[in-house]
Amino acid sequence: MLDAGAPDAIISVRNLHKWYSGVHALKGVSLDFRRNEAVGLVGDNGAGKSTLINILAGLHQPDEGEVIVEGSRVAMRGPRDAMDLGIETIYQYNSMVPSMSIARNIFIGREPVLFSIGGFGILDEKRMRRESVQAIADVDLHLRSPDALVGELSGGQRQGVAIARAMHFRSKVMILDEPTNHLSVKETAKVIGFVRGLAAQGVTAIFISHNMHHVFACCDRVVAMALGEVVLDRRIDETSIDEVHAVL
Ligand SMILES: Nc1ncnc2c1ncn2[C@@H]1O[C@H](COP(=O)(O)OP(=O)(O)O)[C@@H](O)[C@H]1O
Ligand SMILES: [Mg+2]
Repeated sequence: MLDAGAPDAIISVRNLHKWYSGVHALKGVSLDFRRNEAVGLVGDNGAGKSTLINILAGLHQPDEGEVIVEGSRVAMRGPRDAMDLGIETIYQYNSMVPSMSIARNIFIGREPVLFSIGGFGILDEKRMRRESVQAIADVDLHLRSPDALVGELSGGQRQGVAIARAMHFRSKVMILDEPTNHLSVKETAKVIGFVRGLAAQGVTAIFISHNMHHVFACCDRVVAMALGEVVLDRRIDETSIDEVHAVL
């Protein structure tokens, strides 16, 4: 029987397996991520969280199983394929280039060109600056100038720029892998606020964290993994931190 995933799911995975030489990192994971929902993904080190999200981000291919995006089975060959499907990933050490400006980082890989000469595109710098200012304002981030170098920003501000980028390009799914690691309390609160706001904007969030309080503060649902398997999948209002801890 062809399983197209749950009808209201934006992404479904079915029976995903992944091996790294001898290590069976994912052992038949099936999950649905719905529109307008923030899902917390928790589990000890080695549980398989990063492996799962790296598959959704197009970085790894599963050895077995299916990834279904908006009802269609997909075979992603790289991060670009995931981005084209509206799936954006924000890593703890995110994919920012410190020596480049905020504006250039927001448009990295998607730079608008004015015209090309002999295969070289002339970048539309003005448009990148203008749209960056808007993108940053849209996520309620306060930064001096789109020309500031990303290397001069704090960890929390960098996460903010990464989120602004994902929002600007209208991502449908935002994956955040340990986004609050190494952030100050204030910056952590800001990232949690961002995640809480995503559902209202029609964006599905997958929030990986080892801090259960952060998950309970911003997610609608929690999925716990252990040793490559899903061991709990519950709505936040139908479970507790203690119940989740007990299965890990
Ligand atoms: N590139 C890799 N090569 C070999 N083993 C890996 C690799 N990435 C992850 N693993 C192994 O796969 C398992 C799951 O790891 P991972 O997905 O990173 O878990 P988590 O993100 O939950 O800590 C672990 O046993 C880990 O050691
Ligand atoms: Mg990990």
